[in-house]
Amino acid sequence: MLKGRILLLHGPNLNLLGTREPEVYGDVTLDRINEFVHAHAGRRRTVMQTHQSNHEGALIDRLHAARDEVDGAIINAGAFAHTSLALRDAIVAVGLPVVEVHLSNVYAREAFRHHSMLAPACVGVIAGFGWRSYLLAMDALLGHLGQLDQ
Ligand code: DQA
Repeated sequence: MLKGRILLLHGPNLNLLGTREPEVYGDVTLDRINEFVHAHAGRRRTVMQTHQSNHEGALIDRLHAARDEVDGAIINAGAFAHTSLALRDAIVAVGLPVVEVHLSNVYAREAFRHHSMLAPACVGVIAGFGWRSYLLAMDALLGHLGQLDQ
């Protein structure tokens, strides 16, 4: 039986994962991370849509479009997490449960990364576990949706 449909949004500069500051973000590419995500979704019998954009409005458009297609979303908004009131408003507007994700532990980094515009609109935040943050977020979201087996 199907256990939920989830949209995973990757924000700006995450298309460069693999070569972008590997000491901070690891050396796994975004394509590989999406493969890990889809494999985990298969284990959870969950259908994942993944999308990356460097553009704030495109991320918002994708979230709007998913409104009636998914049960929840996982968003690594990159730097937009710290700045985007528009993305936060979009999360509230679509009414979907959203888990905010960061690969790095943003709280152990520069002070400007400690504040999230999105977090108050999300059910929770997972940060610091590299690509595994996405798998943890998936389980957290499925648990929130009541769709994770014990
Ligand atoms: C990030 C953390 C952000 O502060 C940064 O701007 C990113 C990546 C992360 O996944 O650790 O682009 O979201």
